[in-house]
Parts: sequence; structure tokens; C-alpha cells
Amino acid sequence: MVCYLLQTTLLASVVAIAGATTVVHYPPALSNTNNLTFALNGTGAPGIFNSSTVPDKSYGEYNWCNMPHVRTREYKTPSRDFTLEYVEIIQRHHKRTPYASNTFFKEDVAWSCTGEGPVAYGKGPSGVSSDVTEIQWQAFTSAQNPWVNSVGPGFVGTTCQLPQITADGIVDSHTHGSDLRAVYASRLGLGSQLDPSVAQIRVTNNVITSQVAGGLIKGLFPETENTAVLIQSSTYDSLEPTYSCPTADNLHNAYTSGSSNWTSHLTAAASLYAKLDSVSGTSNPDSAGWHTSFDHYYDNLSAKLCHGKKLPCSVNDTSLCVTQDEANTVFRLGNWEYSYYFRDAPDSTQYSALHYGAWFLELKGHLEAVVAGQSKVKYFHNIAHDGSVSPVLGFLQIANMVWPGMGSEVVFELYKKKNDHFLRVLWGGQPMVTSTPMGTLDMIPLQTMLDYITSMVGSGADLYAGCHS
Ligand SMILES: *[C@@H]1O[C@H](CO)[C@@H](O)[C@H](O)[C@H]1NC(C)=O
Ligand SMILES: *[C@@H]1O[C@H](CO)[C@@H](O)[C@H](O)[C@H]1NC(C)=O
Ligand SMILES: *[C@@H]1O[C@H](CO)[C@@H](O)[C@H](O)[C@H]1NC(C)=O
Ligand SMILES: *[C@@H]1O[C@H](CO)[C@@H](O)[C@H](O)[C@H]1NC(C)=O
Ligand SMILES: *[C@@H]1O[C@H](CO)[C@@H](O)[C@H](O)[C@H]1NC(C)=O
Ligand SMILES: *[C@@H]1O[C@H](CO)[C@@H](O)[C@H](O)[C@H]1NC(C)=O
Repeated sequence: MVCYLLQTTLLASVVAIAGATTVVHYPPALSNTNNLTFALNGTGAPGIFNSSTVPDKSYGEYNWCNMPHVRTREYKTPSRDFTLEYVEIIQRHHKRTPYASNTFFKEDVAWSCTGEGPVAYGKGPSGVSSDVTEIQWQAFTSAQNPWVNSVGPGFVGTTCQLPQITADGIVDSHTHGSDLRAVYASRLGLGSQLDPSVAQIRVTNNVITSQVAGGLIKGLFPETENTAVLIQSSTYDSLEPTYSCPTADNLHNAYTSGSSNWTSHLTAAASLYAKLDSVSGTSNPDSAGWHTSFDHYYDNLSAKLCHGKKLPCSVNDTSLCVTQDEANTVFRLGNWEYSYYFRDAPDSTQYSALHYGAWFLELKGHLEAVVAGQSKVKYFHNIAHDGSVSPVLGFLQIANMVWPGMGSEVVFELYKKKNDHFLRVLWGGQPMVTSTPMGTLDMIPLQTMLDYITSMVGSGADLYAGCHS
């Protein structure tokens, strides 16, 4: 911890909470992403937004529909001196339909999921085939239910459960799993069936993460027939995360809705908002958050493009449509917002430390147990959300923050060389570049990361106290 303080630059700012921790904010690199002039007045999309596929030659490029992950083709295998002992992964779920609240957007783009619904059923101890049948959900709307008319035309008669991972998103989940298998299975001695004593999968209380698990596990462990995944109670889940931390919420409010550092970009984008509102029929102001950030427009537009659908037009005027340039501006602004939320705002590091500290304490515990020879688990895979991967990136103070797209992945690889342990952290399949004195997280001493986590979070009791201080 002392060493971080010594290396604190003039730009870095120190925030102390709850006595035990010292969180230092190291500002991110300057790029087009966190340049508001570029976000508002630049051109082009900040990556791929209309397909899950990236040509091999440009793999690694930002793809909102299917972010780059570890694959054999791009993977840099360390020298033989390093033995891989443990891998922990956290990823965002893969691509999905809109959330139900999206029906606020009175859109003209239809969604269909016939025969592709999520599966939900309880299972007896002797398995699916003997006791129960698999049950698939198929959404329907009826003319007799008058509330149906409150949704946009794209959602009347939809067979999609909102949200659900789409069939394409399940394919992406499976590919993600088999790509990881090709890189890690033989090195970690993982078999073709998921063996919970050496490999564990964890999901959140949002069922879309379990839908991803179905595809991912079949790719990772192809002979798995049925399995259990880990889940924490929604009252204190550290992965989504859902645990209560009022201090973090207050910090976040102060540097977003409570600060002109945040609200000025919304004001500057007034003419873009006016156009989007005219197409979607959204009033301004509204009570559903369409004008407090670009989140809703970003997600609602990108979900369509990622599934090969067109940009929406007004249901009252088919010549009044969102243009590609307008969508691209929304995508630049959305990435600017995530950089601000998790990296540019001076208090964002403290926010991530509190909001995601519990998960980092668990990660630290997993790593320490492996080193101490107290755990046989070699592989741990967390399936989560953008609201999970973002504070991981914020906590580690990535140099170039983006909005983590579908399937985005952070990998923690624990290596042993002689008697020493080292950590490599991969983002998009490559060593993560941070703004901290740890620099690029490429075979750093494990202890350096453990000390960093302690400097950020302290103990569990410190974290709990810090959240309620
Ligand atoms: C964007 O361009 C407009 C029109 O040229 C200009 O008025 C505005 O100041 C620019 N915004 C920023 C943030 O540079
Ligand atoms: C921000 O983007 C604008 C427009 O592209 C550019 O003129 C300016 O130099 C950029 N600022 C920085 C700090 O890179
Ligand atoms: C996706 O967008 C890119 C850039 O805007 C464009 O060149 C490409 O043709 C689009 N692809 C599809 C499948 O629409
Ligand atoms: C669309 O907007 C709604 C808010 O009405 C939001 O909850 C949702 O996340 C957005 N995105 C998608 C893909 O539905
Ligand atoms: C707003 O930005 C300024 C300049 O970067 C910074 O000093 C200040 O702390 C920020 N305020 C908030 C609430 O984030
Ligand atoms: C379409 O027109 C109706 C009737 O004027 C209006 O109530 C509704 O808000 C309009 N919808 C959109 C998306 O503009």
C-alpha cells in the first residue's frame, strides 16, 4: 500500500474511508471514448454494433454484440517456467431481447422467439427423463387483456419472454465456452464433464445468466447432461451485485445526477434527444430514465442492430426514423458515460471499491485457498452483467474504459513459477492495461494484487462498515 502512495502522481487523488483503506484514483488514459467533444461531434460507431462476427484479422476490436474473449488463435501462452494453477473468469451474459420495460419505446420492430423460449422446471433427484419433462416458456398476448394495448406494435404478439437470451445469444454462449475449453481444459486437467470438485459455474438471480450457462457449459464441458450452478441470495449477492451499500449509492448520485460534470453532456445532446423522442414517442421529461443517461436509447437501438433488425421508425410516420449517424452518436455517448461512471469521475474508484468489494474479497479468498493448498478448484466461471464487469474494470482502474458489451470477459490466471505465484489478468483476451502503478497486469507477483485489493477494500468488516458509514 505504501508503495502505491509513493508513486501517486499529481493527478492521482486519495480518498480515505473507514480508516482501514486508502483508495487512490489514477485517472484513465485520454482517448476518443472519454473526449466529450468527440462523443458529441465526432463521427462513426465506436466499434461493431450489427453482428456477433468479427473477422480474424481484426479480432479484439470492440464488438458490442459479442465482445472479444480468450481464444486459441490470439492467446499468448506463457513460457514453460510458468504452471497454470487456477483460472477465474467473470463475463457479461450474451446478447438478448429487450427488457419488458422497453415497451415504453413504441417501436415498429418485431421480435419473435417461437421454439426458442427459456426453459424452466423443477427436477427430482433421479433426473429429467424419469420424473419430469423439460418446460419451455412461450410468451403470448391476448386480445381480451386490455393492458396489451399499452405496449408498442413490435411487442404485441411477441413470443419472446422479455428479456431472454436469443437463439443467436445461446450460440455465442456455446462458442464462448468451447473457445475457453480449447485454451484451458488440458492445461488445467478439466474433463469433458463438469466436475464440481474442480470446476464451478456461478450465476446471478437474473435468469438470463442461467440461459447463458446452458450454452457455455455445453461448450466448456461437452458431455455434461445436467448440473448445478452456484447462486447467492438476491438480498446480498456479490456478483450482480445486489448487496446494500448506501455509501456507494450516495457517492454515485453525487457524481452523476448531482453534478454538472455529468448533466452537461445531457444538455449538450438536447437536439439528439428531441429527434429520438419524436421517433419513440417518449416524453421529455419522463419518469423512466430515458433522459438521465443514454442507457435506454443505447441498449434499445443496439439490441435491434445486433439481431440484424433495422433501426426504428415512428409508428405514426414511417418516414421519421432513427438514422445510423444518430445511433452512432448514441453509441459514442454511451461509452463516454461508462468511462465517466467507472473511471473519469474522481470518486468512481471509491465507488467500485465499495460496490464490488465483496466480489473482490471472494476472488482473493479463492486465490489464497489455491496457494495454501486448501482448494482443489481449478476453474471458476462467473456469469453476470455489465453492472458487474464495469466495477471490475473500475476497481482495477483499466486505462481505457468502455461500456462492456455482450459476453465481455475478464480472466484471472494464477501461475506458479518455482515457489512464487504470479497473476495475469486478461481483458478481451489480452493482458489488461491499468492506470495504476501495477501497469499492465501481465505476470505481476500475486502478492501485489492481493495487497492492492486490501488497500481498496480492507477486510469484510471494513467493507461492511464503509458501506454504512
Ligand atoms: C459540437 O458542435 C456544435 C456545432 O458546431 C457546437 O456548437 C458545440 O459546441 C460542439 N460541442 C462540443 C462539446 O464541442
Ligand atoms: C477531442 O476530440 C476533438 C474532436 O475530434 C479533438 O479536436 C480534440 O483534440 C480531442 N481532445 C483530446 C484531448 O484529445
Ligand atoms: C455493419 O455496420 C458496418 C459499419 O457501419 C457496415 O459497414 C456493415 O455493412 C454493416 N453490416 C451489416 C451486416 O449490416
Ligand atoms: C430499453 O429501455 C428500457 C427502459 O424502458 C430499459 O429497461 C432496457 O434495458 C432498454 N434496453 C433494452 C435492450 O430493452
Ligand atoms: C467535477 O470535475 C472536476 C474536474 O475534473 C473535479 O475536480 C470534481 O471533483 C468533479 N466533481 C464531481 C462531483 O465528480
Ligand atoms: C402517435 O399518434 C398518437 C395520436 O396522435 C399519439 O397519441 C402517440 O403518442 C403517437 N406516437 C408516437 C410514437 O409518436
